[in-house]
Amino acid sequence: MQFSIIVPTLNESQNIDLLLTRLFALHLDPGNFEVIIVDDNSTDGTPEKVRIWTSHANVHLIERRGKPDLTASILAGVAAAHSNAIVVMDADLSHPPEQLLTMVTPILDNNYDVVIGSRYKAGGSTENWPLYRHCLSRIGGWLARSICDVSDATSGFFAFRRELSAHISDKAYGYKILLELLMAGQGKYRILEVPICFRDRMHGTSKLSISHQWAYLQRLMILAGGAINVNTAGRFALVGLLGVFIDAFVFQWLINQAAGLATAHILGFLAAATVNYALNSKWAFRQHHTDCLKWNQFARFLTVGALALLLRGGILALLVYVGHIPATIAIYPAIIATAIVNYFGAAFYVFPDKSNL
Ligand code: GDD
Repeated sequence: MQFSIIVPTLNESQNIDLLLTRLFALHLDPGNFEVIIVDDNSTDGTPEKVRIWTSHANVHLIERRGKPDLTASILAGVAAAHSNAIVVMDADLSHPPEQLLTMVTPILDNNYDVVIGSRYKAGGSTENWPLYRHCLSRIGGWLARSICDVSDATSGFFAFRRELSAHISDKAYGYKILLELLMAGQGKYRILEVPICFRDRMHGTSKLSISHQWAYLQRLMILAGGAINVNTAGRFALVGLLGVFIDAFVFQWLINQAAGLATAHILGFLAAATVNYALNSKWAFRQHHTDCLKWNQFARFLTVGALALLLRGGILALLVYVGHIPATIAIYPAIIATAIVNYFGAAFYVFPDKSNL
């Protein structure tokens, strides 16, 4: 057995026969490859159709129960595979089966560790996608490129050496297993990108939902080392709320004492920032932070604070001098913008968390 093709399915009864027919029409040596369909409790008859194939072709069916998950499905397929070269592709014919050998040969020849079927490399394309899918895909790819230097880290058509899957985080889930695979390699894998023509499905519907997109964004932030989670966000919000009151109180008090706008702005910010740092390091981000004061961490905190301060000053000046909004009202949007910058700065830069990779 040379290679295993893993196809995750969720209600693909209109596509699965077409895909398997095209795969076996390639006239590859049947002893050289197997197809593993990993189905997530489809209710449209997909498993029944696959079972017919299992009786006369080298097709295997894995039926998962419980909560559907694309990453878990693909990993289940990898665990059941009989070969060391794995190719993953969608069931809906979005990925051209005719490019299978182009994808897997570099792995079989041991010239590369991962081969990506890329829509965005020169020569690649995406056909029949509505504009919003183009936009989502471009944004997703652009965000992924900030942590991983390939043209299409969100592709669902890729090949790799089987043993690499052992390095994928057990916290990985959702749609973008390729990104997890690449991140696990920490830049050491030999990666080839092959241009492909991605054609949107003719039958059935995409399963990519808003919740998948949100999960992708969350996972991307974690992979980027951000200490982003409900705990840190909730605690940071509470600390921030306290900071808003301290900030607004000091600012208003100074304005009432006839202090200048810049003085009130800076002193209000400093009072809140000092209290916020103490509470964030001791409480909100405590698990990512040792008890003793780290000077480099403190310096990073001050850097983020200074940038936030500049941003806040800019927004405040714009609203007050250009928008003619009273300073005592303009301070609130300025504080909110600062809080957002501060959270992301704290989560990614001051108290980053690499333990989730
Ligand atoms: N087992 C299983 N479990 N399969 C799933 C699940 C799941 O939870 N969700 C989707 N699938 C299967 C579909 O049946 C299909 O074979 C494939 O995964 C892709 O799902 P689609 O819902 O059709 O994805 P898409 O067409 O919108 O494409 C996007 O995601 C793909 C998956 O990685 C694009 O970004 C593609 O580039 C990408 O390949």
